[in-house]
This record gives sequence, C-alpha cells and structure tokens, in this order.
Amino acid sequence: MSERQALYEGKAKIVYASSMEDELILHFKDDTSAFDGEKVEQLARKGEVNNAFNAFIMEYLQSEGVPTHFIRRLDARESLVRRLEMILVECVVRNRAAGSLTKRLGIEEGRILEPPTLEFFLKNDALHDPMINTAHIRTFGWASAEEVEAMRRWTMRVNTLLKALFAKANLILVDFKLEFGRFHGELYLGDEFSPDGCRLWDAQSLEKMDKDRFRRNLGGVVEAYLEVAQRLGVPL
Ligand code: C5P
Repeated sequence: MSERQALYEGKAKIVYASSMEDELILHFKDDTSAFDGEKVEQLARKGEVNNAFNAFIMEYLQSEGVPTHFIRRLDARESLVRRLEMILVECVVRNRAAGSLTKRLGIEEGRILEPPTLEFFLKNDALHDPMINTAHIRTFGWASAEEVEAMRRWTMRVNTLLKALFAKANLILVDFKLEFGRFHGELYLGDEFSPDGCRLWDAQSLEKMDKDRFRRNLGGVVEAYLEVAQRLGVPL
C-alpha cells in the first residue's frame, strides 16, 4: 500500500501533498463535528456526498468568474486543488438570522437580513473562532487592506450567485462560510462549499437541510444533503 503523508488533518478533511508542488489533494471524511469538536460522529457516505457537492459548486463559481483553488475531482472522496497560503479569516455572509447571530444579537431565527450581513471570524480553535473586525485584521496583519476588500467583494458575489442557484432548487441559502488564500500573489477561494458549512432551508416548509440537522440531533443528515444534491443536479 502506498504511504501518503498527510500535511494536515482537520475535522472533516485530510490534506495530502500531490506529485506537483503547487497542488494538494483534499480527502473528504465521513467524520462530522460540531461545537468545537465536542460532538463527532461518522456519517456513512457524507465524505463522497460533500466531495461531489463541493466540486459542483466550485465549478459553477469558476464558470461565473470566481477564482477558486479547485482543479478537479479525482475520485469519490478526493479532489485536486491549488496549494494556497491560507488566510486565517472566516468570511460569513447571512441572508437570514440563524445560529450564532441569533444568540449574539437576540434576533429571532429566520428574520430576513436586508442587505445581507457580513461577519469575519478568526480561524483559531483554541480561541473558539472569535468574531473579529476589519481593523483587527489590519492591525494584526492577518490580511492586507486590498485582501480584505477582495474577500468582502468575492463573498458578496458568491452570495448573489449561490442564492439564485439554490432558489432554483427551491432552497433558501440562509448563511455560509468561505475561506480564502493566496496563490502566486492572487486571492483565491479555498476550503470547501458543502452543507457542512452553510445553512439551507426548504423554501416552503423551512425544513433544515444542512449541518444543523446534526447539531440539533434532527436525524437524516446525509439524507438531507443527498436531497439538496439531487435538487441541484449534482452527479452522484
Ligand atoms: O455558527 P454561525 O451561525 O456563526 O455559522 C454561520 C455559518 O457559517 C453557518 O452556515 C455555519 O455552518 C458556517 N460555519 C462554518 N465553520 C465555522 C463556523 C461557521 O462552516 N467554523
């Protein structure tokens, strides 16, 4: 068996080196975690569903002119990506109030946010990913002023594109998280886009079709991801 060196193992993915220095392999695991890794379970097929889902979304975004690290899907659980130098800032856009926003600001879940709101969080497990602002990003050198502006612009552009894409599948894109990185001096969208990192509600029933099913013990997690994938036409 070939021995591969994992460069990094996260909660839901393993990152491997590839034969090309500028490229990496993302391996999507079945592991699903919530609450800073306090709750972890293996959900059969989740890795392959998220790999296919992510490929579909990244290819769509690329076709619409968004620079992404995605190169191609390699097999059921793995994809080839450009090797970015990651920026340790999570960009969250919200079209409806849910999750941490409802707790932090006392806004009722489901309230339509117009215009959509944007938040930044520091990617730091030990500090539990605290919310930060653009001044923090500049002062502590996590990204340049140009990068902050580019992250803001691309995140809002991705929101416009994906809100419309999911609406066609009778789904409300409630919120999602993006991560960016640098590749030869340019900003690229990195990480993944899957129901693990966004909230999706059925447009009529408002049923949750994302990782909140896992966080809230609602059951049928992978079944909901599959339903979303099927509505979008993701080949599985
Ligand atoms: O928890 P919160 O409500 O701030 O999450 C906002 C959105 O960002 C949700 O869709 C959540 O799944 C996603 N998120 C993520 N990874 C994190 C934090 C949030 O994918 N570390």
